[in-house]
Amino acid sequence: MSSYEARFKVWRGDVRGGGLEDFAVEVNDGEVVLDIIHRLQATQAPDLAVRWNCKAGKCGSCSAEINGRPRLLCMTRMSVFERDETITVTPLRAFPVIRDLVTDVGFNYAKARQVPAFVPPEGVGPGEYRMMQEDVDRSQEFRKCIECFLCQDTCHVVRDHEENKQAFAGPRFLMRVAELDMHPLDAAEESGLDRKRAAQDEHGLGYCNITKCCTEVCPEGIRITDNALIPLKERAVDRKYDPLVWLGNRIRRRT
Ligand code: SF4
Ligand code: SF4
Ligand code: FES
Repeated sequence: MSSYEARFKVWRGDVRGGGLEDFAVEVNDGEVVLDIIHRLQATQAPDLAVRWNCKAGKCGSCSAEINGRPRLLCMTRMSVFERDETITVTPLRAFPVIRDLVTDVGFNYAKARQVPAFVPPEGVGPGEYRMMQEDVDRSQEFRKCIECFLCQDTCHVVRDHEENKQAFAGPRFLMRVAELDMHPLDAAEESGLDRKRAAQDEHGLGYCNITKCCTEVCPEGIRITDNALIPLKERAVDRKYDPLVWLGNRIRRRT
């Protein structure tokens, strides 16, 4: 087993401010960045705050930025960096810092609550649902989400624009709207809930200009832009300009 000493810069501070602190720390074969953060806690900075749970890329807790890129600390191998490179670890930039590498991701939970749940179809009980395999596959891709919020952190609509947060749900939750809107058994429309209109008017779909940055950082490899956001945009536009829908809306408005 070989080991070497790496140079790290780790952001330390809290809501009042902070800065980067330098460390030289031992690295062994096979380690990931979270191992190094744990070694720093054990040997040099016992009060260094970091959030983590599974150390297996499945809980989505250890999100941070490594050399400015949103990543999971537990899934970033030290071997992807040069041994003489200084590795900078900072908290997620789009969310308020609580302390050191821990941010307050409550924005995401608030946005999650704004997306109405699946509406079960009338007269079909659980266990009686029948769907085409391609519809199952689509939902399953979106359901791989571990809610790490790296996509939310990287999206330029909110990353440097705090003022957009109110009107924009972010890629993770627009993907949730898309999943439900494309679900063949979702009975939202029958219950008077228009998910396409809500995507535009309440969740800020129009802010997304399909840069695909969210897709690039997703640790689950979900094709957020191609499979969720672009189809949702197409469906919202189809609905807006469909002459039958337009006519139906006019009649409904008159009556
Ligand atoms: S594709 Fe849309 S949601 Fe994804 S990062 Fe770009 S603007 Fe944001
Ligand atoms: S879609 Fe991907 S990047 Fe976004 S929260 Fe889910 S797992 Fe994380
Ligand atoms: S600790 Fe669970 S995803 Fe990293």
